[in-house]
Amino acid sequence: MNSYAHITGWGMAVPERVLTNQELAAMVDTSDEWIVSRTGIRERHIASSAETTASLASLAAFRALDRTDLHPGDLDLVIVATASPEHLFPATACVVQDNIGAVNAGAFDLSAACTGFIFALNMAAQAIRTGSVENALVIGAETLSRLVDWEDRATCILFGDGAGAFVLQARARPGGVLSCTMRSDGSGGNLLEVPAGGSRHPTSLETVHNNLHKIRMNGREVFRFATRVMADATREATHKAGLEIEDIDLVVPHQANQRIIESAARGLRMPMDRFVVNLDRYGNTSSASIPIAVCEAIECGRVNPGDNLVLVGFGAGLTWGALALEWTNPELDVPPARRRRRRLLAQIAAFRSHIRRFLRFLEGLIWGSYTEGEK
Ligand code: UT7
Repeated sequence: MNSYAHITGWGMAVPERVLTNQELAAMVDTSDEWIVSRTGIRERHIASSAETTASLASLAAFRALDRTDLHPGDLDLVIVATASPEHLFPATACVVQDNIGAVNAGAFDLSAACTGFIFALNMAAQAIRTGSVENALVIGAETLSRLVDWEDRATCILFGDGAGAFVLQARARPGGVLSCTMRSDGSGGNLLEVPAGGSRHPTSLETVHNNLHKIRMNGREVFRFATRVMADATREATHKAGLEIEDIDLVVPHQANQRIIESAARGLRMPMDRFVVNLDRYGNTSSASIPIAVCEAIECGRVNPGDNLVLVGFGAGLTWGALALEWTNPELDVPPARRRRRRLLAQIAAFRSHIRRFLRFLEGLIWGSYTEGEK
């Protein structure tokens, strides 16, 4: 049995629009100097009205598939980790499944906020290791700009939009995802939340009037929690994989705050050059931050076959976790023919979706009248 889950494809997508600290300083009482010194963030990408969590996720997914020899129809599983889903339901993963034409895949969302990508990657890897699926697509995607209170200077400076995707495939040779630590503490749920819109506080004029559909955060408490758990989770996943911290070539942390990452590095006694940091250009993209950082690290040549990586994250829930993996895929160049194929596949998937909707409409006309008659 092919029982190792290897990452064979990766891709990212961010909106074109860049929002700088200077622009934010014109919107709320803040400054570039404050934001950079307290967070490390200089700019972030913000979705246009035409871009959504699913559209960014689908683009990242196509780019990840381009790197593999897979057709979307070969995928058995699509998981989208997101805190800013397209709808309460259906799942964003189902929208992506339809967009990319993954006609044989089960698709669902995973809600673990900024830790979501790590949990989702682990779920997909476990499904592969048991032999239940062969090919999986795992995506972290967000349009948090839609949930940000643009008048709250404590949060609006932090978040950005984007998506990152990995393709996982079953292989006989050892490597790929090695171990994972998944943790949560619901007692801290109120530290970072969007209070309304669910069953506790359904949407009403009152919830809208009281601004309860926007992100609320106790920044200091989240900061304290993050600095406490990052190093421990990294150490735990490393040891579970049978490795020592010295064996880790690269740590890819959740990109929330430069000071949190530096604190983790100190806790692990690792130099900062073994950490991937790109939050200066993207801000905190929640579940998308880790896959985006991995994609960029690969593009810069910082990830090589045989390298041991730890991905580590924390976020609302509270949730935190770390995942150790051995990077095994050497392919780096995207043949232009594959890019052309992606565009064609997107068109075919959209056409197929329209046909299915039309057939469903016809079935409704035929069977709908039959059911009416039965009543
Ligand atoms: O994915 C997980 C998501 N969340 C996080 O990772 C957040 C973790 N927390 C943080 O990154 C930091 O706590 C923040 C960046 C959010 C805030 O930094 P801080 O150093 O913890 O600042 P603070 O909340 O202790 O606030 C210090 C001061 C306050 O003023 P006073 O009360 O001392 O007069 C704030 O009102 O800074 C003020 N402040 C600002 N000033 C200028 C808060 N936000 C801003 C701002 N610009 N944007």
